[in-house]
Amino acid sequence: MRTIPTLLPVLVFLLVAAASAADDGGDNSTFVPRDYILLDCGSSGQNNDSDGRQWNGDTGSKYAPSLNSAGVYASNQDSSVPQYPYLTARVFTTPFTYSFPLGTGRKYLRLYFYPSNYSGRAASDAFFDVNAGPITLLRNFSAYQTAQAINFAYLIQEFSINVASSGLSLTFTPSVNHSNSFAFINGIEIVSMPDIFSDIPTLVSGGTPTQYPIDENWAMQSMYRLNVGGQAISPKEDSGMYRSWADDSLYIYGAAFGVTYPADTNVTIEYSFPSLSPLGCLLLG
Ligand SMILES: *[C@@H]1O[C@H](CO)[C@@H](O)[C@H](O)[C@H]1NC(C)=O
Ligand SMILES: *[C@@H]1O[C@H](CO)[C@@H](O)[C@H](O)[C@H]1NC(C)=O
Ligand SMILES: *[C@@H]1O[C@H](CO)[C@@H](O)[C@H](O)[C@H]1NC(C)=O
Ligand SMILES: *[C@@H]1O[C@H](CO)[C@@H](O)[C@H](O)[C@H]1NC(C)=O
Ligand SMILES: *[C@@H]1O[C@H](CO)[C@@H](O)[C@H](O)[C@H]1NC(C)=O
Ligand SMILES: *[C@@H]1O[C@H](CO)[C@@H](O)[C@H](O)[C@H]1NC(C)=O
Repeated sequence: MRTIPTLLPVLVFLLVAAASAADDGGDNSTFVPRDYILLDCGSSGQNNDSDGRQWNGDTGSKYAPSLNSAGVYASNQDSSVPQYPYLTARVFTTPFTYSFPLGTGRKYLRLYFYPSNYSGRAASDAFFDVNAGPITLLRNFSAYQTAQAINFAYLIQEFSINVASSGLSLTFTPSVNHSNSFAFINGIEIVSMPDIFSDIPTLVSGGTPTQYPIDENWAMQSMYRLNVGGQAISPKEDSGMYRSWADDSLYIYGAAFGVTYPADTNVTIEYSFPSLSPLGCLLLG
């Protein structure tokens, strides 16, 4: 007999905090981030990824001056895995901190992981914590198990964090009590995001929509980002924050897929902040 796993109570926040591109006459303005860092861990020099975005190697980088020699290559250089930033890594057997001087305000922090074997270390042995200053973003994280669970060869963990004053310290710490444990990272992306939470967002969770204030010290992790009624959008096609948007049809349960309507051109939606993103919504959990 097949047992149906108990569904854990999951609180899903649907924060309708992303604006539509619809504005008076169609405003296509693109957000220009103050901070925009693409750090290709374990490599040196500048390399463009398949999306045309330019990554800088962390060898000799001002964010990690002690990393003055090359990192390690993934042992399986799978052609289906994008070379930048995934095929090189930094491996840490003791805690290591990158220090990013940044402007204040919220940032997207994207951590890129390709759980391969690295210089004789097995991918399945990597268990580690990632801390942004005092906040633990990932605890006893296994990129290997996570990638297996979602059936992907590589993955990105995206966070929204507030940088108060002195920039961002990002620390990788191998878990204790697991023999041969190590930490690794393939790529780090930091992009300023606009101040979308100072106007209190609306929480939609099945009941009556309520206001849901976001404390500026909270860090949040993105779970899904769907372009509702539209297609997938690559980071390069986003409106300046390099977000990845997924097609929502994969996430609709049941037989009825609904009908997709384009925006009504007779209706003007006015937002109190500049228009930023395609039609859609941001799911944070
Ligand atoms: C905005 O972009 C769309 C699609 O690229 C285009 O059709 C429209 O003319 C643009 N609007 C403005 C005001 O530039
Ligand atoms: C890499 O990207 C940068 C910035 O987008 C661009 O200026 C440069 O020409 C690109 N280099 C190559 C080799 O495509
Ligand atoms: C990774 O290392 C483990 C342990 O040494 C080994 O069993 C496994 O076959 C290796 N995987 C690859 C893809 O090289
Ligand atoms: C980390 O996770 C592994 C596998 O899930 C587990 O065996 C181990 O006890 C955990 N370690 C800590 C310190 O939580
Ligand atoms: C690791 O093991 C030591 C000794 O067995 C124990 O005191 C400690 O609490 C363990 N730490 C974690 C995070 O499990
Ligand atoms: C917009 O308004 C015009 C004139 O009232 C009308 O003919 C048209 O059907 C409207 N468009 C939509 C999408 O409702």
